[in-house]
Amino acid sequence: MKHAISFILNQEEIQLTVDSHRTLLDVLRDDLGLTGAKQGCDTGECGACSVLLNGVVVNACMVLAPEADGAEILTVEGLADEEELHPLQRSFIDHHGVQCGYCAPGMLIAAKALLNRTSRPHEEEIREALVGNLCRCGAYPDIIKSIQVASRARR
Ligand code: FES
Repeated sequence: MKHAISFILNQEEIQLTVDSHRTLLDVLRDDLGLTGAKQGCDTGECGACSVLLNGVVVNACMVLAPEADGAEILTVEGLADEEELHPLQRSFIDHHGVQCGYCAPGMLIAAKALLNRTSRPHEEEIREALVGNLCRCGAYPDIIKSIQVASRARR
């Protein structure tokens, strides 16, 4: 069954028709060419596919595309503006929060959601915010440090 849906994606209105069984992650990556959200486990375990859906972190692999109808979505591609990287992105680069990089988009989205609700998170709050995001390189100390530094320069 096909569904005509529309949503706001990184501040741009999107209209498209999707099959019932397709996930938001499939649509973002395959139909809209936004490959920042990664397909890791595809079962809601790793967080590599994290996006903000109406301000809440979700695993895009676990959201059916028709469920996104009317939503506001932020992917990692929407973090930077045309001129400069988001402070989180800059800090991940400066403080080695990225190793292989596969988890980075999901980590950045989880961190963005945290900073949206808590301006100066404690380490424990950062750890809790990242509980659904796995890093196979084990770069957690540098990821946490990156988020701490970015929280001092957030916009
Ligand atoms: Fe969605 Fe792992 S790919 S949680």
